Amino acid sequence: LVVGQMTLSGQSSAYDDGMEISLRAVQRDEFKQFINTITAAFAEEATDEELEHGFKLLDPNRALAALDGDSMVGVAGAFDFVVTVPGPNKVRAAGVTVVGVLPSHRRRGILTRMMEHQLEDIHTRGEPIAILGASESNIYQRFGYGIATLQSSIDIERDRAGFRTAIPASGRFRLLDTDKAIDVLADVYDRVCAQTPGMYERTRAWWEHHSLHDSEPHRHGGGPLFRAVWELDGRPEAYALYRDRRDFDWRHGVPTGHLHVLEAMGTSPLATREIWSFIFGIDLTERIRADREAGLPPLMFMLDEPRRLRISLSDGIYVRIVDIKSALEARSYLADGSVVFEVNDAQLPHNNGRWKVDVSGGRATVEKTSSEPDIITAITDLGSVYLGGFTFAQMSIGDSLHEAVPGALRRADQIFRTDVQPWCPEEF
Ligand SMILES: CC(C)(COP(=O)(O)OP(=O)(O)OC[C@H]1O[C@@H](n2cnc3c(N)ncnc32)[C@H](O)[C@@H]1OP(=O)(O)O)[C@@H](O)C(=O)NCCC(=O)NCCS
Repeated sequence: LVVGQMTLSGQSSAYDDGMEISLRAVQRDEFKQFINTITAAFAEEATDEELEHGFKLLDPNRALAALDGDSMVGVAGAFDFVVTVPGPNKVRAAGVTVVGVLPSHRRRGILTRMMEHQLEDIHTRGEPIAILGASESNIYQRFGYGIATLQSSIDIERDRAGFRTAIPASGRFRLLDTDKAIDVLADVYDRVCAQTPGMYERTRAWWEHHSLHDSEPHRHGGGPLFRAVWELDGRPEAYALYRDRRDFDWRHGVPTGHLHVLEAMGTSPLATREIWSFIFGIDLTERIRADREAGLPPLMFMLDEPRRLRISLSDGIYVRIVDIKSALEARSYLADGSVVFEVNDAQLPHNNGRWKVDVSGGRATVEKTSSEPDIITAITDLGSVYLGGFTFAQMSIGDSLHEAVPGALRRADQIFRTDVQPWCPEEF
């Protein structure tokens, strides 16, 4: 089934090379080619195991390929996600993934066509939003994806990782075998996910083939994955996934191990603290690193020397509002009030125009209106404020959102503000 065909010739002088590219969903027997195309776009090679695992998680109907004749030259995929949004509430979302174009075919508009096609498809499927993590931050804003969370890396010497206050030890720790881990970890994850905008539900297959996947190439030179859990009154309340970096040495007789924490979370501040105190207690470790902490990591408020975390901040996940009405009605709000947005969406025309967001009892009714706008914005900026990671006032610092009525930014921020920091702890 050819879902779209484009002749690049004549579209613009930059892309004028007469190449004919067709877009279509891949067939099951083309899936290996699909995975080989995405790994080649990243200048890597897929292992047999990776080829098999990728197949289990990605629905071929959501695996889009760009073909130059018979050759697959570009790919883009999407997972079926259910994402937590402020309230907390849950919303169906496309988890955009495996996006790449071969180096031989770049800067000819192939990604642009794939993104346009994929957004139409997401809309047809009735998913109000799409989310993604970007390999480079200059790629997706042009397609309406706004930076929606911040994430931080931390890197701390173990002997400087002391807590501000001492508390009596409680609960117990266990290391989990792979075959028993999923149920225990999911018990914690599901509860944290349900409270945290930006996190998505994990299926059993996702745990098995993604979060706990531990093949040699997946380790990037590190050691095997360990799974530690903290239980209180017999119930798991926090866990950590970590591996050692394999750069262990005894320099001058002193151990220099580095620990890489892939994920650490707890259902309460106490549980979060306990699992980090477990990590800081792992012997023969000199430094501890974690790369996908929340923008303001909880440890910042717990440690005696927060500066020693060496926090480095960057863009986290991006949110694309695919359908304004269903997206804004899917989350809830802490204050009632109303605001009219004039929205500019270059890819999805149904979002264009003026929308009145009327919040009463914490729920929004969103309708097209002919009223004068309070705020004029690109769809990108609405994606940035959606999870509560950024305010309208902050977005107005850029050049694609501004207030048309004095005081409108403040009014909108009172309505949209949230009290939970959005966070997505995993790459997908
Ligand atoms: C990112 C990538 C998919 C872009 O594909 P592409 O087909 O070259 O993109 P397009 O030709 O549609 O580019 C659209 C616009 O975005 C710009 N752009 C896209 N990717 C860019 C990048 N990585 N750096 C700078 N500009 C980029 C293009 O210059 C172009 O701008 P223009 O419209 O002003 O001319 C491709 O470079 C790639 O595969 N990179 C390696 C893998 C990767 O990073 N994938 C993304 C995973 S999240």
